[in-house]
Amino acid sequence: MPVILGIESSCDETSASVCVDGAILSNVIANQTIHEAYGGVVPELASRVHQQNIVPAVQQALLLAKVNKNDVDAVAFTRGPGLLGSLLVGVSFAKAFALAKNIPLIDINHMQAHVLAHFIGDNKPQFPFLCLTVSGGHTQIVLVKDYFDMEVIGQTLDDAAGEAMDKTSKILGLPYPGGPLIDKYARLGNPDKYRFPEPQIPGLDFSFSGLKTAILYFIRDNVALNPDFVQQNLNDICASVEKRIATILLNKLSKAAKEYGIKDIALAGGVSANTGLRLGLQALCEKNGWQSFIPKLEYCTDNAAMIAIAGYYKYLNGEFTNQDVAPLARMPL
Ligand code: KG4
Ligand code: ZN
Repeated sequence: MPVILGIESSCDETSASVCVDGAILSNVIANQTIHEAYGGVVPELASRVHQQNIVPAVQQALLLAKVNKNDVDAVAFTRGPGLLGSLLVGVSFAKAFALAKNIPLIDINHMQAHVLAHFIGDNKPQFPFLCLTVSGGHTQIVLVKDYFDMEVIGQTLDDAAGEAMDKTSKILGLPYPGGPLIDKYARLGNPDKYRFPEPQIPGLDFSFSGLKTAILYFIRDNVALNPDFVQQNLNDICASVEKRIATILLNKLSKAAKEYGIKDIALAGGVSANTGLRLGLQALCEKNGWQSFIPKLEYCTDNAAMIAIAGYYKYLNGEFTNQDVAPLARMPL
């Protein structure tokens, strides 16, 4: 019955989770609202807020799980990729906790953890499966052969899908992070009102920078004719942008599934919270006789439950790290 404490601090969410024998008993997420005023995450501020929130988040996670800190068997933490100053807070906390309790440390790759979030709960995909991992910094199609054997078979050549969402919302004058707001307004709009271009990128790779420029020029030209264009058409613009981003992602995912002959298809990362993408994947899988795996909303965006579950599987393998481990801003799968 291993008890794993998971710690996540790679970007702007401070999170702690307790996993007992593979079951997640708590997942506390402290969001940072301070960045809204700046239109994006300010790394220096993020580190400071992690520093304030980390101990209360861990205390709360232990309390909700009804687990005493003396009963924790190992600490799993996000080593990377992420903002270095943010990662340092979680890594240092994990080291100090492990040292004080004389228990092992487990280092976790944040992007692997997004994929392994599918092993929380009963509905688990079968290896090998495909996972479209879409977040603020990454857009990858991952061939998942085993818990810690993953291959990126397609990725973005420029912006990530979440970045495309956030940059579009900035162009529309919406606050950061824009993805959830685009989702909200898209539900009220017509996705076929405006047609944005689909980039022609060979193979399984993606590109979103051309789409961003097309949206920028589209808004600029229409606002020149009608200063109230965005306010009057916000829902339709968001619905059309969301549809285009989802179509770009799902077309490549479908191509990958056919090429690799894989029928278990999963979504992961912050953008997998997007309603249009979730519905689109379900429809795609129904049409092709594939099975879709879509995480619960709390396990889509950054959270420590995915770190704790990944830590659980590493614990079973006896894969631990040392006290001299350092965070990595870049960390391949
Ligand atoms: O995985 P995540 O929480 O953090 C990173 O590791 O980057 O992903 C954050 C990204 C942001 O770009 C945010 O706008 C996007 O996920 N996002 C969404 C939604 N919720 C979060 N994008 C579209 N629709 C949503 N509902
Ligand atoms: Zn993430």
